[in-house]
Amino acid sequence: MRAADADRPIGLFDSGVGGLTVLRELRRQLPAESTIYLGDEARMPYGPREPAEVVGFTREAMRWFAGRDCKLVVIACNTATSVALEAVRDENVFPVIGVVRPGAAAALTATSRRAVGVLATALTVRSGAYIRALRDLDPLVDVAQQPCPKLVPLVEAGKAGSPEALAAVREYVGPLLTEGGVVRPVVDTVLLGCTHYPLLRREIERVAGRDVRVVDSATTTALAVREVLASHRLTRAGGTAVHEVFATGPAERFREIARAIFKEDPPDVRETRLP
Ligand code: DGL
Repeated sequence: MRAADADRPIGLFDSGVGGLTVLRELRRQLPAESTIYLGDEARMPYGPREPAEVVGFTREAMRWFAGRDCKLVVIACNTATSVALEAVRDENVFPVIGVVRPGAAAALTATSRRAVGVLATALTVRSGAYIRALRDLDPLVDVAQQPCPKLVPLVEAGKAGSPEALAAVREYVGPLLTEGGVVRPVVDTVLLGCTHYPLLRREIERVAGRDVRVVDSATTTALAVREVLASHRLTRAGGTAVHEVFATGPAERFREIARAIFKEDPPDVRETRLP
């Protein structure tokens, strides 16, 4: 194996800015790895779209990463993972990792009564991807899904922490905590099945209460990346990591949204085009 193989960057794909939460965790766990982040901000949000459209966008993104010689690509977007991971996995020579299975694993580690609530976009819920992933890992788990169409626009508008955000969280999390027959168990774990929801963790934890655990997929996804790199002998031994961020649509807009969401100076962003 050429040494240069391990020096190639890891690609991260998201529909927009939210996947930076996954990038942050990846950098924390794998500080020697270089990364290339691609946010398809021009076509965000993916959540309300049709599956075929999102599969097409994800295919374009994978071609973009192939042109940049990535050694592995993470689909940090839950919606894209839900509908496109299986399709694009077989079409590329580099390994592709999604966030749904790692998220499901995190939820199953956390739950004590095997009752998990999944908060996600409309398309992620429609796809049933989280139900499949959770049941693959534990056939007896109870799953309640909740689409949350108001949350991404609120986070993008910098309104995390506002009374409006808390009201929306109440609307979505409330039903997961009330008994409603066999299809609606009272959950003991809430899985944040969307890139943006970790930014509303405080509100979600407040509404869910102390007895409910709130988990996301960032930590377990980074762990999955570590394992795949190790098994392919692609882990970078050391050296200075380089991090690049690209966005479709105006770079300034991406930066503004990143600033509103993360309340810190966003990274340097360069504009790119898909396909
Ligand atoms: N990145 C998407 C996800 O994780 C949320 C934003 C969108 O709808 O595009 O599902």
